[in-house]
Amino acid sequence: MLYNNGEKPMGFRSQNLSGPGRLITLEGIDGTGKTTQINSLASAIRKQGISVLKLREPGGTVIGEAIRQILLDNRHTGMCNESEMLLFAAARAQLVREVIRPALAVGTWVICDRFLDSTLAYQGYGRGVDLEVIERINNLAVGNCRPDRTVLLDLSPEAALERLGKRPEKTDRLDIEGRMFMERVREGYLAIAADEPQRFIVVDAGQPAKALAQEVFSKIWEGLSI
Ligand code: TYD
Repeated sequence: MLYNNGEKPMGFRSQNLSGPGRLITLEGIDGTGKTTQINSLASAIRKQGISVLKLREPGGTVIGEAIRQILLDNRHTGMCNESEMLLFAAARAQLVREVIRPALAVGTWVICDRFLDSTLAYQGYGRGVDLEVIERINNLAVGNCRPDRTVLLDLSPEAALERLGKRPEKTDRLDIEGRMFMERVREGYLAIAADEPQRFIVVDAGQPAKALAQEVFSKIWEGLSI
């Protein structure tokens, strides 16, 4: 689809103007190697002659990056779960309107590092915010802009913590709390994926990065290249 004046929006190097793009999201607990997989997937899709845009959440827009700073600021330990959920949704609403929809409209494939499933898994399953409320707020944030495919990089919290350089054998209160939180988030992701098997590709993130990248690309390509 072309814009009214026949020009591409600034910043997108689209080669495939004839059809709509695809939205692919990658999800998983921290430490599953998402960044490496996103980079591999983006270059494999580009090799097929398709324009690819990589994004991360929260962020990707000036307003989204400002919201990210608020969320990550160490002084904000008093942030309640509801504020946190709303801020993630606000950053997402901005990203969808400012970047994702315009990119998809010109045939670009968008690969997003986290999207609404992160809020369901972290704020919902992890912190106990009502899942239906999250669904409603996110309906407002993303509307019909839903991922075509979501790759869930599944890994145990112990293996993820080891990758993050944290010793899994440490057992003080905060370590145990952190691990239990990650376990709830992981179980949440698996429940969300089981609910939508058509959209989700669940892969074992414990395998070597190269083999994993091949599995992710072939499953994405098989489902979306038509
Ligand atoms: P980030 O540094 O981007 O971590 P990662 O590289 O693992 O994605 O920080 C994002 C953190 O925010 C991560 O711990 C997951 C969390 N998060 C939520 O809790 N809810 C959300 O909706 C999103 C998008 C992220």
